[in-house]
Amino acid sequence: MEKLLWHTMMSLDGFVAGPDDGMDWVFEVDGGSGGTAAEVVSSTGALLVGRRTQDVEDRRQPGFYGGAFRGPFFVLRHDPPADPPVVKGVTGRFLDVPIVEAVEIARQAAGGADVVVLGANVARRCLEADLLDEVIVHVAPILLGDGVRLFSRADAGPVGLDPIASTVEGETTVLRYAVRVVSP
Ligand SMILES: NC(=O)c1ccc[n+]([C@@H]2O[C@H](COP(=O)([O-])OP(=O)(O)OC[C@H]3O[C@@H](n4cnc5c(N)ncnc54)[C@H](OP(=O)(O)O)[C@@H]3O)[C@@H](O)[C@H]2O)c1
Repeated sequence: MEKLLWHTMMSLDGFVAGPDDGMDWVFEVDGGSGGTAAEVVSSTGALLVGRRTQDVEDRRQPGFYGGAFRGPFFVLRHDPPADPPVVKGVTGRFLDVPIVEAVEIARQAAGGADVVVLGANVARRCLEADLLDEVIVHVAPILLGDGVRLFSRADAGPVGLDPIASTVEGETTVLRYAVRVVSP
């Protein structure tokens, strides 16, 4: 059964981006060759991307997964512009719809393969809608001190996760968890 995966790099102190959306550390860390990232790219049929993640992607232009993923992608954005998003020559689609609908659109495009969520805010929305199956975190050996938290919310309790695997890949430790059902 295809899954909805949240795949991200995280600093040891729990940030997915540093201050001012700083992302240099992500591109500088040695994540080893092949491994989980290559596995995820090959099992993924579509990406669901947050607008803020897309903005950073626009500035850096490495392409998703360094250009290794060239499949369909959807950018969640309120009041999107008329022109669609383009990353490394691949044209995506803006979506301004509730998260459940967005995930369904991405699943259709994925054609039976997994869907990967990029962006902490969008991932939290997926999780809170009980749509997220797994979290895959590459822990980078760095302390950022501040930035965009992996998971941030003040008004609800903790979310239970079940460990699936942990591996060392290059300088990173890759942690994979299944999400427990959030709502009763
Ligand atoms: N370390 C990593 O591997 C990694 C991976 C991905 C991203 N990042 C970093 O994380 C940061 C961005 O993450 P983030 O959590 O701040 O933001 P995000 O998840 O990328 O984007 C959140 C935005 O998506 C839009 N959105 C969410 N749900 C929507 C809906 N249902 N309909 C329409 N629009 C919707 C909203 O934008 P508007 O309301 O403004 O339109 C919202 O503010 C960036 O610095 C990025 O580089 C790091």
